[in-house]
Amino acid sequence: MCGIIGLTSKANVSLAVLSTGLKQLEYRGYDSCGIAYVDDNQLNIRKSLGKIIELEKQLPMTVTNCAIAHTRWATHGMPSLANAHPHHHGMVTLVHNGIIENSSKLKEELGNEQLYGQTDSEIICAYLDMLYARCHDHLQALWHLEQMIKGSYALAVIFGDALDGIYCVRKDNPLILGVAEDSIYLASDVSAFIEHTDQVVYLEQGEIALLHEDQLSIYDKNLQLSDYVIERSLVNKEDVRCQGFKTFMLKEIYEQPTVIARMLDMFCPDDLQQLKDNLLDISKYDQIVIVGCGSAYHAGLVGQILIENNLEIPVRTYLASEFRYANINLRSDTLAIFISQSGETADTLAALRKCKIMNIDTLAIVNVIGSSLYNEAKYPLLTLANKEISVATTKAYSAQVLMLMLLIIRSGLMDDPTLHQKLLALPKVITNFISSLDLQPLVAELKDKEHAYFIGRQIDHAICLEAALKLKEISYIHCEAYAAGELKHGSIALINENSVVFANIDEQVVADKTLSNLAEVAARKAKVFCISSLEDVAADIKIPRVKALLQPLVTITFYQLLAHEVALIRGCNVDQPRNLAKSVTVE
Ligand code: F6R
Repeated sequence: MCGIIGLTSKANVSLAVLSTGLKQLEYRGYDSCGIAYVDDNQLNIRKSLGKIIELEKQLPMTVTNCAIAHTRWATHGMPSLANAHPHHHGMVTLVHNGIIENSSKLKEELGNEQLYGQTDSEIICAYLDMLYARCHDHLQALWHLEQMIKGSYALAVIFGDALDGIYCVRKDNPLILGVAEDSIYLASDVSAFIEHTDQVVYLEQGEIALLHEDQLSIYDKNLQLSDYVIERSLVNKEDVRCQGFKTFMLKEIYEQPTVIARMLDMFCPDDLQQLKDNLLDISKYDQIVIVGCGSAYHAGLVGQILIENNLEIPVRTYLASEFRYANINLRSDTLAIFISQSGETADTLAALRKCKIMNIDTLAIVNVIGSSLYNEAKYPLLTLANKEISVATTKAYSAQVLMLMLLIIRSGLMDDPTLHQKLLALPKVITNFISSLDLQPLVAELKDKEHAYFIGRQIDHAICLEAALKLKEISYIHCEAYAAGELKHGSIALINENSVVFANIDEQVVADKTLSNLAEVAARKAKVFCISSLEDVAADIKIPRVKALLQPLVTITFYQLLAHEVALIRGCNVDQPRNLAKSVTVE
């Protein structure tokens, strides 16, 4: 869960290009960082604890034509200068993103080699040095390393006897190459170099890339030079700029209407029948499983209820980390849907591979084209949320939910005469709602609280889970979501005069039930808030009512904004909450 960037160039490039690019990768981890750069034919390494800004303080005002840099999220070994990347042993300097599962075994093979830290990355650095000492061939040494290591990795390597080149390999971790006029870039994510080029090459697993000045060479598994395709990246410069918003999260919340409009324009610009050309008919399956982590799992839960309500297909939604180890045997008439913003989440990817072994049809709802899930699913579907920078997801979650709705419509509701207009109206409804919301009374109530609860039934429960996650992850208030009917079975014991309870009530058939649960907690002196789109429910916050199928897309924006405002007033780092990284590529 780290970020890497590097470049080689025909011209001299300021070190600021690397540190600025690295800042775009901070969402992947930010406990320590470092850079190795060539200056005057010497390799220099600088490392720092904390964020890139700390590293910048110690960078000289110099230029380079070959450098690799890294921002770390500790997995093996605590955050420390020794464990920060780049690592250096003998002839090898490298940065690594991923986890090497057999690093202890490799360490044994290193014998007496002195290691200065505790990371798996340092072990493979020393190991590659050992391999290189045996064959004196950069490509051969890297090829051998790939045969020996187990786990996931994106590696960028500079050899001490070829200080003008960088070698890259990857497995199950992203590494994208950027082709600019004078330079070649590498990074975990296009956003790190998008200011310089949008011309990208996606490195395939098993290939080795060599960057030299402005030249890119790619070698196949047999170490033969191979052709590659340069594509235009879907990420654009605007996506990585805050554009006057206080935070990226706020910008991304406000982008949701645009994302919805973009997706509708892509999948059904004129009428719902167009969905047939673009989307799979999921009604042909007898059962569906949905798999994801965190908010993607919550999007799956929304999908589950909507599919069951509208298509009457039984659905079960799993946390990917549970699914991958569960003793599950799926019938061949099952569709497995995987949801992931990054397309690289390790557990979700492992779950997809498990389904492929079972010969189950797999559909992935993913926000990153060329990501592992996108590449490996039988039916990849791209949500068009574009780059999401804030660690807490907002627009990508909404795009996942919308994609599930479109699949449902395509598979059973295309003949609804008013539905297309209602879909097209959504962006405006959301824009008007979020720009008119006054959250101050609620923020004042929540800002000093340490516990908040969210209750709801059916779809409202799925919304509550996401609402609770949003608030807890960025404001550090302890939040729980409960199925409202479950409260009396234990959790109501927690409620007292310090509790804040939100009831979400969009589901008409259970509205009265949830209202009486809210009365129960109010009777225990909790401060309660009723959030509802239903006309006949007296609500503290009235959400605009849209068609039941589409309601979650409107309602969730309230909770996203609330979480944002509460986190801001509590002085939290909204875009980069503590202990969290955006892309969880390890178990
Ligand atoms: C919460 C959040 C996470 C992600 C989860 C899955 O705001 O962003 O819970 O939803 O880590 O990530 P992806 O969607 O990349 O698989």
